[in-house]
Amino acid sequence: MASMRCNMSSITDLIYHLFILLLFMTGTAVMGAQITDLRVPSMALEGDDVTLHCDYDESDSRLYSLKWYKDGVEFYRHVPSSHIDTLDQCLPISGIDTKCWESSERKVVLGGVVGASTGNYTCEVIGDHPRFKKTSKSAVLDVYSEALEMPMVVGAAEYYQDQDYIKLNCTSFNSEYNPMLTWTINDQKPKMTEVLRGWNKRTVGLNFKAEADKFIKGVITVHCTAQVGQHVKVAEVHLYNQHFQAQQYLLGGATGCCTRDGFLPMVFMITIAIFAPLRLFTLQ
Ligand SMILES: *[C@@H]1O[C@H](CO)[C@@H](O)[C@H](O)[C@H]1NC(C)=O
Ligand SMILES: *[C@@H]1O[C@H](CO)[C@@H](O)[C@H](O)[C@H]1NC(C)=O
Repeated sequence: MASMRCNMSSITDLIYHLFILLLFMTGTAVMGAQITDLRVPSMALEGDDVTLHCDYDESDSRLYSLKWYKDGVEFYRHVPSSHIDTLDQCLPISGIDTKCWESSERKVVLGGVVGASTGNYTCEVIGDHPRFKKTSKSAVLDVYSEALEMPMVVGAAEYYQDQDYIKLNCTSFNSEYNPMLTWTINDQKPKMTEVLRGWNKRTVGLNFKAEADKFIKGVITVHCTAQVGQHVKVAEVHLYNQHFQAQQYLLGGATGCCTRDGFLPMVFMITIAIFAPLRLFTLQ
């Protein structure tokens, strides 16, 4: 009886260990050459060169082939084992002018995209012998013809006191698409809670406290950047501290263009100091 029980438990042990081994083997075998990173810009403007990235990891299986498709139609292939000419890797399809010599197995360059380049781009990777495991990833690119417009910032007051809340809106004037709108305050990214989104896709708000240390020589500089693909337009606004405004007023510097660094006010005062007595002298 004792030896019987012993055998039973060693058999279950054996089954258990086989099961674990099986799990381990299937677990590693399902991995092929994996796509680790697919980068297709979501937007581009007509005439842009657009780079598509498809990065893969060969640690589990060598690459057998990498192919790019647009809306299911192949336009680029890389098969390391076949010794085809680089040019043969590009297959001409409508709306796509692949820059073959600039393209490689991980990066494909589309020259001067047009409206017809809009579509669903798929990168497909097949691992090598014996399993030829296939994986793919897709992303959509939209190509627009309208040029990027300069965004507009509204809501700036004439001047601010320390601890005031500064509330601004930045609006895009593009009608075909919504460029990405981002803010900076003195060239720094604002906190997430200071950026307001959600009214509509063309407007982004900014709401932050005018802490005294934010005023650099009396001025906070805010930028709103509109971006689509590689195109960028930046609107700049200067927000003045009340003291700065008062100082300008006293010095009669209504334009505010030159008094910022304190050098001109000095010159102004020295000028008065030198010429005032002279003036008195000539008047006599
Ligand atoms: C893009 O193509 C892939 C593969 O054919 C498909 O699975 C995916 O749903 C498509 N995406 C869109 C947004 O059409
Ligand atoms: C920003 O736009 C929203 C929505 O149009 C509006 O409610 C808000 O008052 C605007 N703020 C400023 C500072 O203009």
